[in-house]
Amino acid sequence: MPTYLITGANRGIGLALARHLAERQDIVLGTARDPGAATEAFEAGVEMLELDVVDAGSVDGLAAQVGDRPIDVLINNAGVYNDKAGLEETDLERFAECLRVNVAGPLAVTRVLLPRLEAGGKKLVVNVSSVMGSIAGTRNGGSYGYRASKAALNMVTKTMAVELAPRGIGVVSVHPGWVETDMGGAGASLQPAESAGHIVSTIDGLGATDSGRFMGYAGDDLAW
Ligand SMILES: NC(=O)c1ccc[n+]([C@@H]2O[C@H](COP(=O)([O-])OP(=O)(O)OC[C@H]3O[C@@H](n4cnc5c(N)ncnc54)[C@H](OP(=O)(O)O)[C@@H]3O)[C@@H](O)[C@H]2O)c1
Repeated sequence: MPTYLITGANRGIGLALARHLAERQDIVLGTARDPGAATEAFEAGVEMLELDVVDAGSVDGLAAQVGDRPIDVLINNAGVYNDKAGLEETDLERFAECLRVNVAGPLAVTRVLLPRLEAGGKKLVVNVSSVMGSIAGTRNGGSYGYRASKAALNMVTKTMAVELAPRGIGVVSVHPGWVETDMGGAGASLQPAESAGHIVSTIDGLGATDSGRFMGYAGDDLAW
C-alpha cells in the first residue's frame, strides 16, 4: 500500500484528500499545527503528525515523526490566503507571511523529506497551487501576496522537477479548482470531496514524463 503525506490535513482540501485516500486503504500521514484537535482526520484513520511549515524546528520534527518510513507521494497542501486588498491597501507583513507559508513552506518540507521520497515507490511531490498564480491568466487586481506566492510556488515546482529528475523524484503543481472551504468560501463550484476525488485520480495517472507540469485537478495543462 502506498504512503501519502499531506500537509494541512485537519480541514478543507487536505482533510478531503486524506479521507479519500484512507477510505481506499492507502496509508495516510497527515499534518496539522494542532494534531490533537484534528478529530475528523483521526476518525478517518489518518495518522496525524505535528507541523507548522514556517517553523524550522517543526519541519525538522516532522522528519523525526516520519522516521524511516518511505513516502510515495508528498502533497504540499497547507496554505494561506490572508489579504485580498488592492495595491494601496496591501499589508506587507501579510504579503511576507503568505510567501513564507505558501512558498518557503513547501520547499522546506520537501527537502527534509527527500530521503523518505527516495525510499518510496512513486516518488512524487504534488504542490497544491492555484490559477491565481498564473501570470498568463491574470485578469483582476488585488490579492498580491497570494498571487505572487502561487506564481513563485510554480517556479519552485519547475526548479525542483529539473533538479530532482536525476534522483527519480517527480514534482507537479496542481490547481484544485474553486473549492468550498474556509479559504474558498461559500458559493465555490466544487465540494472538497469532489476536488479530492479528481486530484487523486489525476495523481494515480501521473508518470515520470509529467514532472514539471502545472495542471488542473483533472490533469489538464494550465498556463504558467
Ligand atoms: N479553496 C480553494 O478554492 C482553493 C483554490 C485554489 C488553491 N487552493 C489551495 O489549496 C490548499 C488548501 O486550501 P483550503 O481551501 O483547504 O484552505 P483552508 O481550508 O484554509 O485550510 C488551510 C490548511 O492549511 C493549514 N496551514 C495554514 N498555515 C499553516 C502553517 N503555517 N503550517 C501548517 N499548516 C498551515 C491550515 O491549518 P490550520 O487549521 O492550523 O490553520 C489548514 O489545514 C491551499 O494551498 C490553497 O492555496 C484552494
